[in-house]
Amino acid sequence: METGLTQFVKTSETDGVLTLTISRPEKKNALTREMYAALSDGVERAEREREIKALLFQGDGDSFTAGNDIDEFRAQDAGQQSEEGSGLRFVDLIAKATKPLVAAVQGNAVGLGATMLLHCDLVFLAEDARLITPFVNLALVPEAASTWLLPARLGHVQAYAMFALGEPLDASTAVARGLANAVVPIEALRSRASAAAALLAKRPAGALSHTKALMREHSRIAAQMAEEARLFRECLVTAEAREAFAAFAERRPPDFFKL
Ligand code: COA
Repeated sequence: METGLTQFVKTSETDGVLTLTISRPEKKNALTREMYAALSDGVERAEREREIKALLFQGDGDSFTAGNDIDEFRAQDAGQQSEEGSGLRFVDLIAKATKPLVAAVQGNAVGLGATMLLHCDLVFLAEDARLITPFVNLALVPEAASTWLLPARLGHVQAYAMFALGEPLDASTAVARGLANAVVPIEALRSRASAAAALLAKRPAGALSHTKALMREHSRIAAQMAEEARLFRECLVTAEAREAFAAFAERRPPDFFKL
């Protein structure tokens, strides 16, 4: 069922590639429930429709995405949760996706914007791309099985610094550590990523999908995501999280020490 109708995610289809463009640049493409629903519907559509052979994610403006809309985190804290509009549904779908996922990333890729890349098959970064996972700054835990997948690529201490201290990972380091394929000048980013997706669309779909399945440890990813989701929900309603969300809204540093 298609639930995600929003002007903030644009969908287009060319040559077997479904492109989902996150387009809320004035808010750095922060993801609302409607946007997650639209992205999730796009992934489901790509999986369902035979003519779609590959999926491409990109973002309008100067940031790929600033991650979850923090004002909506506050609303969820107040009890407004919905399954179809949740980031958890989206990461579950991309983790299970059988078709190739490609991403074109410029500027900030924050939170889910960074962790979703761990489920993409080809990732292209503009020179200014920065992967940032400030979950602990927000008194939350990371998601998308990133607590397993990121240390597997970066080692414990660097992944820990990203999660616990919010240290960004720059584009060339991300390529060096196997998190992305190439650093591309910004003006060539979209054409490079869409050419790669178009190339994948022409490959034999069955062999591609088997190869991807063989490369990914689905049961381990699912188990990690389930445990992360349990703790994430728990964290969302703590005093620490309330302080973090209030601090973001009031544009001040959070004060966890007093809690
Ligand atoms: N949720 C809601 N609004 C967000 C947002 C988010 N995750 N990220 C940015 N915005 C909004 C800002 O509140 C601001 O809105 P305003 O113009 O109405 O005041 C607008 O987007 C521009 O953001 P700003 O912070 O001024 O841009 P910047 O270029 O200085 O910084 C970021 C960009 C992405 C580094 C910064 O916005 C940021 O750190 N955002 C929060 C990221 C985050 O913690 N995400 C959750 C991860 S789990």
